[in-house]
Amino acid sequence: MTIITLHPDFRIGPVDRRVFGSFVEHLGRCVYTGVYEPGHATADEHGFRGDVAALTKELGVTLVRYPGGNFVSNYVWEDGVGPVEDRKPFLDLAWRTVEPNVVGTDEFLQYCEREGLEPMMAVNLGTRGVAEAVALLEYCNGEAGTKWADMRIANGREEPYGVKLWCLGNEMDGPWQIGHKDAHEYGKLAAEAGKAMKLTDPSIELVACGSSSMQMDTFGSWERTVLSYTYDIVDHISMHAYYEELDGDRASFLGSGTAMERFVERVVASADAIGAEKRSDKRITISFDEWNVWYLTSRFPGESNLPIQRDAPRIIEDRYSGLDAVVVGDLIVTLLRHTDRIAIGCLAQLVNVIAPIMTDPDGAAWRQTTFHPFAAAARLATGEALQVKVDTDTIATAKHGVVPAITAAATIDPDTGALALFVTNRSDQEQTVTLRHPGATARIDGGTAVLADHEGARETQEHAEAYTPVDALPVEQGNGTITLRLAPESWTAFHGAMEL
Ligand code: AHR
Repeated sequence: MTIITLHPDFRIGPVDRRVFGSFVEHLGRCVYTGVYEPGHATADEHGFRGDVAALTKELGVTLVRYPGGNFVSNYVWEDGVGPVEDRKPFLDLAWRTVEPNVVGTDEFLQYCEREGLEPMMAVNLGTRGVAEAVALLEYCNGEAGTKWADMRIANGREEPYGVKLWCLGNEMDGPWQIGHKDAHEYGKLAAEAGKAMKLTDPSIELVACGSSSMQMDTFGSWERTVLSYTYDIVDHISMHAYYEELDGDRASFLGSGTAMERFVERVVASADAIGAEKRSDKRITISFDEWNVWYLTSRFPGESNLPIQRDAPRIIEDRYSGLDAVVVGDLIVTLLRHTDRIAIGCLAQLVNVIAPIMTDPDGAAWRQTTFHPFAAAARLATGEALQVKVDTDTIATAKHGVVPAITAAATIDPDTGALALFVTNRSDQEQTVTLRHPGATARIDGGTAVLADHEGARETQEHAEAYTPVDALPVEQGNGTITLRLAPESWTAFHGAMEL
């Protein structure tokens, strides 16, 4: 028996809607034949696919990180602006793909404007440095009368874009990164680039690269060293994490949200340790700018084993199962339980590449299973996150040790009293949950659930297209008690109301 307790006075803090971000990288078919495909039946006058834009809206994405990822670490942004017919292709070494430079900074930022998405730009601190980062910022945000701002205007865009969020490179701790650096080299460069960028535009927010995963040998010391150089300059530190089911170890895979939670707590501890040493009142927040299920170990041959390709090759087009959708829902539970420290989240990526949205070139766009939990949470999680107390059984896992059988996050809208409750059942048995709400009346009006399925289901488009969330199991309520039932291996989004 599990007891979940909610109290309207016990709040974590406002849900930063930027936590429902995603990621568009020049990788495989994310850009070309993904978001962008001139000549497609649904393409707008700028060449962007209308069917993908409509699904992005339905998904509820609030911001998009761009242009990489590993791609950014050898990207020459100047090659992607100006008249398209003058742009030259280049060989992107991150993904060993010829980048045609047809979509670049202006196309992306104007797409975001048209679609109501907040852009999050990354600068190249792999093969390039302070000057090029400042030039790109000035190109995007500068007023007329300086070289780079005037170049933007000459390219047809008068108004500054006002891009607020900037990543200082990508995964610079990773030996695979073009221009990889050790923590001291990167920390000094990020501090200098960040300082110059804030002198150019003090209104921006900066993200320093944290570890590429908690499994990196340098994890922990990387954060401490980088923040010892950048603490006063940056606003956020990045986190990246991908999870997969390995060797049929379902229990560990279903416990991924707990691994993510420990990762968050350790990064927060590392950041706060530097803050304490500096006697600083400033709190660094987290930009979890890459997270997802990715069959990285079992299905991806590794970047350096990719042949050199052109014309938007199919790279990392993972197909997802119901089980993957449950885990994605549970990862969202972790993000929402830490809204006090996680300011930004990006489901990596948006289209075709480990993505909730898939496309056929010259054909249809469709939802993967993982689309559904993200869309439900993005729709319902507004207002403030509540501190949710979950008293539940535990499950022993090979990879993460003991993890809770049931996890939960909740939000309440202070204006309307709308309550959202997200609950994962990691066990293979149906579970009954008593929902306690001392100090306030509450009700649950309904819910939708994503359910795990079994082996073999993840491989086909037909399965993904047929997969839809189901109604939550019936809720019993009356006399001040609410009883929820959770299907085995499921993630459920309940909606209701709570008196404030
Ligand atoms: O999202 C795919 C890749 O994963 C990104 O390019 C990189 O940052 C990470 O390793």
